[in-house]
Amino acid sequence: MSQNYYKIVTAKAPVNIALIKYWGKSNEKLKTPINDSISGTLDIDEMCATTSVAISSNYDSDEFWLNGEKQNLSNGSSARLLIEEIKKLSNYDKKILDYKIHISSFNNFPTAAGLASSAAGYACLAYVVGHAYGVVDSCELSKLARIGSGSACRSLFGGFVQWVKGQDHDSSKAIQIVDHDYWPEMRVVICVINEKQKDVSSSAGMSRSVKTSELIRYRADTVVPARIEEMKSAIIDKNFDKFANLTMQDSNQFHAICLDSFPPIFYLNETSRQIIKICSVINSHYAHNKVAYTYDAGPNACIYLLEEFVPKFLYLMQTFFRKSGGDGQSSELEIKGKKYSSAIDQDEMDLLCAKLRSHGLDCQLDTVTYLISTSIGSGPVISNEHIKDKNLQA
Ligand code: DP6
Repeated sequence: MSQNYYKIVTAKAPVNIALIKYWGKSNEKLKTPINDSISGTLDIDEMCATTSVAISSNYDSDEFWLNGEKQNLSNGSSARLLIEEIKKLSNYDKKILDYKIHISSFNNFPTAAGLASSAAGYACLAYVVGHAYGVVDSCELSKLARIGSGSACRSLFGGFVQWVKGQDHDSSKAIQIVDHDYWPEMRVVICVINEKQKDVSSSAGMSRSVKTSELIRYRADTVVPARIEEMKSAIIDKNFDKFANLTMQDSNQFHAICLDSFPPIFYLNETSRQIIKICSVINSHYAHNKVAYTYDAGPNACIYLLEEFVPKFLYLMQTFFRKSGGDGQSSELEIKGKKYSSAIDQDEMDLLCAKLRSHGLDCQLDTVTYLISTSIGSGPVISNEHIKDKNLQA
């Protein structure tokens, strides 16, 4: 082996958005949940965490930067634990395992705003550190990502994913239900309402719910087990109507548990509730579900819908949520991500807009910041484009 050792590895990992929510831990340290959950993995092209790790014989200490800010890597921190567990599984030479590691990670979407940034971040960390030390089994890496942030275990797989709660570290694991090609018409639109960090983190919120909510046990023991089976069959049968009902009901129940916690936790705001209303009016207008809203621990709306309805949904969002201009003129919301050029039927939209207005919905200025148009995607990937960060130099 040469005197100077240097190795750099980079990976990208996706966000996942739960359809049946994980909320509540049976073991805080292992991050094993009180109920199973199911999520869709989003396309890396629009939203992902990118992490580069460098191992060098010239480094004096292990270091970790997230979005350019130094992070805690002290003993007992989640990231430290994850790295140590991966090293235990590695069969690399002890000398290499003793070299220090520098990690730099970036998210291309708002961090800690209820957009699953910790899921993408820890999935990416587990995947890239694993690959740097020759540990490449996705099931193993998924379980280790879970120790960083529970929902991260689902981001190690593409398509639709179930996290089986299990009883201990080995049995609490994510498994793919179907891959990203299985339901190719499925699309996702994220309505970014607020990019600020939430005031009650998911960890703190779910711990409060487990301690104080009387409803959470009923949810975990009775409601979710039945919903998991229903949701799996809705996905396998590509039954959007059923899929959408379950998704919206589960989001509602999760936020009801937050309200049942003491003191109550409020993640939704007025704009979140307006988008729920818009979705409900759309679905009742067509007499079957066209859109399914779901909200995590923040106000941003995540809308699952089929490809044919995306241009119509984007049109409606741009009609009811606009940006104010300096000269008194309003302008359209920015849409990041996948573009759609298909024409929409103006009469159909005029009718629907009139229906929405008759339900008291008016055009709101500056309450939605932008939209992200994306789809279901695959799991993490190794990339050749290393993060350009001076901290990663040997
Ligand atoms: C509402 O995975 O962020 O997004 O395990 O404490 O890190 P920790 O929590 P986290 O919780 C996510 C909760 C959720 C629902 C979900 O993704 O299933």
